[in-house]
Amino acid sequence: MKTNFKNITFRQLKVFSAVASHLSYTRAAQALHLTQPAVSMQVRQLEDSIGLPLFEQLGRKVFLTESGKELYRYSRQIELIFNEMDSVFSALHGLESGILTVSVATTASYFATRLLAEFARSHAKVQITLDVTNRENLLGQLEDNSCDLVIMGRPPEEMELESVPFMENPLVIIAPAGHPWVGRERIALDEMAEQAFVVREQGSGTRGAIERFFVNHDLRFKTAMELGSNDAIKQAVIAGLGLGIVSLHTLELEMETGRLALLNVENFPIIRHWFVVHRRGKRLSPIAEAFKGFIFAEAKRFEPLALVF
Ligand code: PGA
Repeated sequence: MKTNFKNITFRQLKVFSAVASHLSYTRAAQALHLTQPAVSMQVRQLEDSIGLPLFEQLGRKVFLTESGKELYRYSRQIELIFNEMDSVFSALHGLESGILTVSVATTASYFATRLLAEFARSHAKVQITLDVTNRENLLGQLEDNSCDLVIMGRPPEEMELESVPFMENPLVIIAPAGHPWVGRERIALDEMAEQAFVVREQGSGTRGAIERFFVNHDLRFKTAMELGSNDAIKQAVIAGLGLGIVSLHTLELEMETGRLALLNVENFPIIRHWFVVHRRGKRLSPIAEAFKGFIFAEAKRFEPLALVF
């Protein structure tokens, strides 16, 4: 059976995308305010037009087939172009409305949510979607061009990107408040490297920077535990599972309550930077342009705390 693209509708693609992103007909139906049979019917009609199955069901789980994955890639791009068109025409209508999709590194979410909240206050008609994920997933999103702007550390050199740094991201060593090293002057790197560390997952930008730092200083890195979020790392350090290396941005609350302390270690902090990134040549919507300008103008107010040992 051949594919008959003429019959495919944008609505079918939207329904398909919702099922593909939730991997559930029920949740897609809820998100779209449709009934489940209506969702299944749209997907079935799309499968008829494509001439190939898009999903397979194993037990109660739904998976994308190879053709489903291909179609998902295209349908996300089509939706993105549609959103771009929507913002461009809204701007031509003289409205400051439209859709803004921003994806940020997990660690950047500590300031990016506040930055977006401020922006939203002066752009009440803009519909904002924020995705918080680790570096590896952000690279995938840049590859598929599936969001307006990305906020991340150290953009990859091998991709054609436009990236502008806008703020420092210092990585510091943390210990629980009562740790014997708290208050000590300039702890030597060798001594520090004998300790075990609670670290982020592979694929995290923070993790990559720490590994590069240890390799560059000819040190071996001892892992006490690997955890998938900054908050989990802070909890584990408070519980005494090891020392941690995290961005200073993540520490505001714990420093305020005095539950964690910074250690004064030689060659620390590791200074990284935050970048605003998008694909080179991407046509930014007026809203995305406005948000990009807002980041450069306002980021100073979201700079991390001063270092206090
Ligand atoms: P992550 O982000 O450690 O939360 O992935 C930091 C970065 O992109 O460098």
